[in-house]
This record gives sequence, structure tokens and C-alpha cells, in this order.
Amino acid sequence: MAEIPPASAIDAEFYQPAAGFFSANREVALTYDDVTLATLYSEILPRETNLESTLAERLHLHIPIISADMDTVTEAPMAIAMALAGGLGLIHCNLPERQQLSEVSRVKNNVHGLIQDPIKVGPEQLIGDVLALIEDRNFAFRTFPVVDPAGTLLGLLSGHVVRPRYATHQVGKAMTPRAQVHTIHERELGNDPIARADRFFTEHIGIHKLLVVDDADRLRGLFTMSDIERIIHERQAQLKPARDGAFRLLCGAALTAMRNASGDLDTERIRAHVAALVERGCDVVAISTAHGFSQGVGETVRVVRAAFPELPIIAGNVTSGAGVEYLADCGADIVKIGQGPGSICTTRIVAGVGIPQLTALYICSRAAAARGVSLIADGGIVKSGDIVKALTLAQAVICGGLLAGCPEAPGQIMEIDGKLYKQYRGMGSLAAMRAGSAARYGHATRDATRKIAAEGIEALKEVSPPLDTVLTQLAGGVQSGMGYLGARDLAALRKNARFIRVTPAGQRESAPHDIVEVKTGTK
Ligand code: XMP
Repeated sequence: MAEIPPASAIDAEFYQPAAGFFSANREVALTYDDVTLATLYSEILPRETNLESTLAERLHLHIPIISADMDTVTEAPMAIAMALAGGLGLIHCNLPERQQLSEVSRVKNNVHGLIQDPIKVGPEQLIGDVLALIEDRNFAFRTFPVVDPAGTLLGLLSGHVVRPRYATHQVGKAMTPRAQVHTIHERELGNDPIARADRFFTEHIGIHKLLVVDDADRLRGLFTMSDIERIIHERQAQLKPARDGAFRLLCGAALTAMRNASGDLDTERIRAHVAALVERGCDVVAISTAHGFSQGVGETVRVVRAAFPELPIIAGNVTSGAGVEYLADCGADIVKIGQGPGSICTTRIVAGVGIPQLTALYICSRAAAARGVSLIADGGIVKSGDIVKALTLAQAVICGGLLAGCPEAPGQIMEIDGKLYKQYRGMGSLAAMRAGSAARYGHATRDATRKIAAEGIEALKEVSPPLDTVLTQLAGGVQSGMGYLGARDLAALRKNARFIRVTPAGQRESAPHDIVEVKTGTK
């Protein structure tokens, strides 16, 4: 084995571990761009690093990245994509409670690769109607299950008969009848439906569709061979999905300190809603507010902890050691750090409060270590290097703006001057508060129609590639950082990190400069 070079006393004088560095800089609050990390002797290649992170006894992620509980970031499609990549999505709570429950159910019931609600046709329709449907909805496929009004499978209309020459024929006459259609009972899918479907396609030469049915022979879904092949290919290259003990994708949900008409905490409603979330398989709740070091948040944590002793609880947001201790003592397992760093936040401008993120994380990390809780760095992350720096002090990060342009984020794509954008708004923006998030900022929802001080803005994000591409880039960046620090895992990253401040000139030097940029690294 190669000999490890001795540590240098000169380096130690300048590149300091977190404790020495932040104490020496205690008169100024620092954020990601204010510091850089020193490289260290390494025997670790980036691809050998391990991004696993345990946030609580029952909450384990394969990549330490969480999508923000914001109404322009995380609903079921984002949470599904996050968990498939090994992270976690927090379903926002700016929607009716019933709807939040159904978003959680969509994630927990997701079977990757299974089209759960395929487009179906009826036996009475004409092939001409099906052709019109394909044209109208721009479908890229031509094979359709045929069902009766109760959803019972009658047959399969295969693509080779969906042609203009057969336009006047009835679907019921042209379809492959039920007895000849390949199906599998949903119970037979087991723990790994993709592997099951893959086996089926290997064993049945020339069959490209597999339909899933229930006890009553009702259609429950559809696998296509091309999807399965794509997923198998991705599996070999990509990160592992984050799953629960029953092999379902992980999912989190946000919660506010709900109050009744007289302004008191509505403990009954909180308990009932969390019970419904847990019943649907929700793995973690996040009591997410702008000011977590407050009685309402602490009490909400206590109520949830007392009723659900084993449920992982995230609470926040705070930026002080006392805030971390308070929420930990109330029963939180994980504390969110960040007041005002978010890309759409105006808290620091409007309220004049909040602490730049790295200093806040360092102070909070000391309290967290003493209380045995984990930290999540929430907001202000704009590049993978910020994640590396955040992970020197926290167990995971939350991203909003970085993910809001992905197709999996809620909202329509709009075109402005030939460029494509998606809406991204702060949960403390007037529009979001009117839609229900006022409580997160300490206002009653009815206030939101009156004039109240917004702490966030409405913005646009340029449309970005699909989430798995974005996450692969981010995770790859984090792995590079770990390689430079000789850190095989995140615990080693926290231990090895050595900090030094950078000046504005140093920051300029850190980004591409004095060139004409023709191609960025990401596009
Ligand atoms: P990024 O920088 O990832 O930040 O876009 C996302 C985080 O910002 C917080 N957030 C807000 N903070 N006013 C605020 O002061 C707001 O309107 C607002 N909306 C979201 C939140 O913590 C989120 O995860």
C-alpha cells in the first residue's frame, strides 16, 4: 500500500477544519461563495465515493438531495423522480389536505415502468375514432387496451390494425381477444416488478406489451418492452432508488402548524392529517415554516412525536444553536437550516433577519452534534460545489430553484422570446400565500387577501433537462469534491474538510473568466 504523505504544518496554519475556521471568522457570517475547500491527499476516485446518508433511524437516502416542499417544485412526479434517483421529495402543503394525501399515494403506489393508467378504448368505437384520438392527442403509440365501462379487460387493439384502411371497422371486431392477450396478476409483480416484466419479455419472443390485471380482471396497468429495456439500461448506469421496507419509493410530506379559527394550534387536525399520511405510507413529515424556533412549530413537533413515536420528523427553519436544541428537545430528528438564503427569498430584505448559510450551518452543526440530530441545508444551493460545502456541515441539502425548471416540477412550460421557462415562486410570495401558504410565514390565511409583507417573489426558471440528468450532474460534482478531499463517504467529507476564505477576486477566478464562452459544461 502506498505511504500516506505526512500532514503539513504549513497547510494546517492556513487551511483550517470547521471549528478553527469558523471561530477565527466569528465576526462575519459566511456563505458558500465566501469559502473554498482545500484539496487533500487522496486514494479515492470520484466514482468510488459513497453518497449514502442516514438522516434518522428510519430515513436513509442514497443521495443526500431533497426537493423543496414548494408548490412549484414538489408534487408526485417530482417526488417519484427524486426517490428513483435515491433522494427524497417533500410534497408541499399548499393544497387541500385530501389532495396532499393523494399525491403521497401516487408516490407510494408508483411502480416504476408500469403505466398505471394507460389510455384505453371501448369495443364500440371505430378504428377511425382511435386514429382521430392519436392525431388529436399526438400519441406516439398505437396499441390500446380495450375495456368495458367497469374497466374489465376485453382485448388489445394492436398497432398494426390501427390504420386508415380499417377506419370503419369496430375496435371490438379488430382487437386481439382477451384469451390471447398476455397478462399478469398484480400480485405476481412481487418486490421488483421491472425484473418480473423483463423476465416475461425474454420468455415471450415477439411480445412487446404486458397487461396487469386484478382479481376481477380489471386493467391495472401496462408494461411496454421498450420502457423496461430503457429502465434496465438506466439501472446499470444510475443511482439506486430510495425505497422503504416494502420496496415502495420513499416520500415525505410537509405540514404547517395548523391553527383553528380562534388562532390556537389545531392539534386534532394535525394528528388526523399525519395519521392519514402515515396510513398512506408517508416516510417522513416536514414541519416547514420560515421561523422554526417558535412555539407553534415546537408544539406541532411535540404533538406529532407523541402520537407517532417512530415517524421521522424534519422541523425548521432555524439558524441558531438554541433553535436546533429547541426543536430536537421537542422531538425532531432532523432540523432544517436556512433563513433567507433561497433564490426566491426576500426575508433578509423584508425582515432584516437571517444568517448566511455556511456560518448558520456551522453554529447549528455544533448543537446538532450535542443533541444527536441531523441537519439539512435548505436554500441557496446553485451549483454542485455548494452542495459539497453544505455537506461538510449537514447530512443533506434541499434544493428548490435548481430543480424547478425540470419537467417533473409542477407547472406549464411557457415560451418568452424563443426561450422556454417554468414558473418558480417563493412560498412567502403573495401569490403562494393567497393559495394557502400564509401560515408558513406566520400570517393567518385570511390575512393573505389583505396587505401583508411578502417574503418571497414570483420568478421564472429556464426549462432544464429531466431530473435524473440534473441529479446525475449534481451527484457527480459532489463525488468530484469528495475525491479531492480523499473522502470515501460523507462522514469522511465532514471530517476532512479544510476551509479558507475567498475574496471577490478569488470568486471571479473560480468561475470561467477572460474567455468567450461557446459551450457550458452542462448543456
Ligand atoms: P432555493 O435557493 O433552492 O431555495 O431556490 C429554496 C428554499 O427557499 C425557502 N423558501 C423561501 N424563503 N421566502 C423565503 O424567505 C419565500 O417565499 C420562500 N419560499 C421558499 C425554502 O426553505 C425552500 O426550501
